[in-house]
Amino acid sequence: MSLRQCLASTSRATATKTRPRLTKSLCLPTLSGISRLCPTGPAPVHVRHASTLPQRSDRFNKLTKSHIGELRKLVGSSSSILSTLDGSATEDDLKTYNNDWMNKYHGKSQVVARPRSTEEVSKIMTWCYENDIAVVPQGGNTGLVGGSNPIHDELIISLSSLNSVRSFDPVSGVLVADAGMVLESADGYLAEKGFIYPLDLGAKGSCQIGGCVATNAGGLRLLRYGSLHGSVLGLEVVLPDGKIWNGLSTLRKDNTGFDLKQLFIGSEGSIGIITGISILCPRRSSSTNVAVFSLSSYEDVQKVFSETKTHLGEILSAFEFFDAASYALVRRMQKHHGEEPKKVFEQEGDFYVLIETSGSNAEHDEEKLTNFVEHLMTSEMVLDGVLAQDTTQAHSLWSLRELITEACTKLGAAFKYDLSTAPGEMYDLVEQMRARLTEKGLLKGDWEGDVGAVVGFGHMGDGNLHLNIVAKQFSEKIQDVIEPFVYEMVKEKGGSISAEHGLGSMKAPYIGYTKSETSIEMMKQIKQMFDPKGLMNPYKYIV
Ligand code: FAD
Ligand code: MLT
Ligand code: ZN
Repeated sequence: MSLRQCLASTSRATATKTRPRLTKSLCLPTLSGISRLCPTGPAPVHVRHASTLPQRSDRFNKLTKSHIGELRKLVGSSSSILSTLDGSATEDDLKTYNNDWMNKYHGKSQVVARPRSTEEVSKIMTWCYENDIAVVPQGGNTGLVGGSNPIHDELIISLSSLNSVRSFDPVSGVLVADAGMVLESADGYLAEKGFIYPLDLGAKGSCQIGGCVATNAGGLRLLRYGSLHGSVLGLEVVLPDGKIWNGLSTLRKDNTGFDLKQLFIGSEGSIGIITGISILCPRRSSSTNVAVFSLSSYEDVQKVFSETKTHLGEILSAFEFFDAASYALVRRMQKHHGEEPKKVFEQEGDFYVLIETSGSNAEHDEEKLTNFVEHLMTSEMVLDGVLAQDTTQAHSLWSLRELITEACTKLGAAFKYDLSTAPGEMYDLVEQMRARLTEKGLLKGDWEGDVGAVVGFGHMGDGNLHLNIVAKQFSEKIQDVIEPFVYEMVKEKGGSISAEHGLGSMKAPYIGYTKSETSIEMMKQIKQMFDPKGLMNPYKYIV
């Protein structure tokens, strides 16, 4: 079927209401004084080899069996403390907390605390502060930069038992909820009231709203709903000394002094534990349409993006792209699972884009989209396209994009880079990386080298590229070819080495590639002010 026929036959898009809940199949394992700022000259780049993990600091005390007894007295339920030190848990039980989603980072903690209230978090932190115990706050443990797992034996404080809605105001759309609420549950709660959580991502079935705020996650609809820096109205945070900061404002406007909550958005557990969130939630759109197109070049991806904004601007809710290598990887995974991937496009391309519109007038939206599709067809900007006819089809189209993350991790060891540059320069990074790995003899043929695939995908609308190098296994040899080369490329383009996933332990040594010496100095001073003992998520973020 030609593009024209294919699209003509599908031009009456049926309104779709929800996106796929892919995570179901993802099997997720389960103020002290500020010193004066020192202005400096041109910023030197600080680089530390990521594989040389920092030594355990002897500033921190080691947890003992008697400590477990003390911790237990601070919480209401005996199941709130899990430890191999007193036999209340096995090493296996703690694996879920010690290992990350990619199976790349492995901590050695012997204790997990699962407080059930803000007060319990506060008691635990007060105790840690008094006893010099280092801690790692943990949400859904879906982070991709090694931020949510201990490096050594830090106490893991899991927020998963803090998971209730506190209030919702249907007039203002403001939701106040515990930080440990799973994103999908928060969105499900809002859906029943006709509202939507202003963030969506592939890990929604496991990640927590607090973890998302802590990483300032961007996700699939930032283009529409903006960053959490805009939608979060207030936070409740337990500070490193145990003090509770109630900044849970529900006001949209409040220009009285510094906007303190902003410091915690994206702070990755380095200056406090977020326990409550107040967030502005928009009305849920009643009409959603999804279309995926194949294209022959990255230049066409950019043209289509530009055209999409012109023609669908007010109803556009996502514009995602992926390359042929990403598409091949998803199909490879499906075959591994014994599925025969269905033919989606009559004509496959080197690139694909997914466009989602969300509005309140189905007829109007469909008409706009149909006209737009015709425009794309006649101007030959796309090779082929598929427009979802119903919710099920919309889900499968979304899965072409969302399953890439899972495919990268399931088919090998994924070296994941989350980068931002000007959209026009994004794909150069993928091509340069392929050239380098080929030149070094690591990428060859069809999975014949140590590296099986180099794929590029991401949030075109946000100028955010996910460059993934899928190797047969994690090795320093491969990492040394990739890093710091990847960060040098980004610096050269004036981009960011972390668009949305954060720094964690993976990128902490490389922050200098994106931030100036003065910025880093200011960040260190903020860290020092909140956490003078350095107990919060040590060895990461700002080192
Ligand atoms: P965790 O992984 O548990 O923690 C992440 C960091 O936040 C750690 O440093 C941790 O110490 C800290 N932290 C967690 N909770 C708290 C708290 N309550 N208070 C203080 N600090 C805390 N990210 C995107 O930006 N966009 C995407 O589209 C996206 N898609 C993803 C898809 C998949 C399949 C996966 C596995 C991950 C994806 N991510 C994405 C990564 C993303 O960072 C996380 O999914 C999410 O933001 C982390 O939430 P979490 O609750 O799992 O946090
Ligand atoms: C995504 O956009 O799919 C996520 O950020 C996860 C990833 O980078 O794999
Ligand atoms: Zn992403």
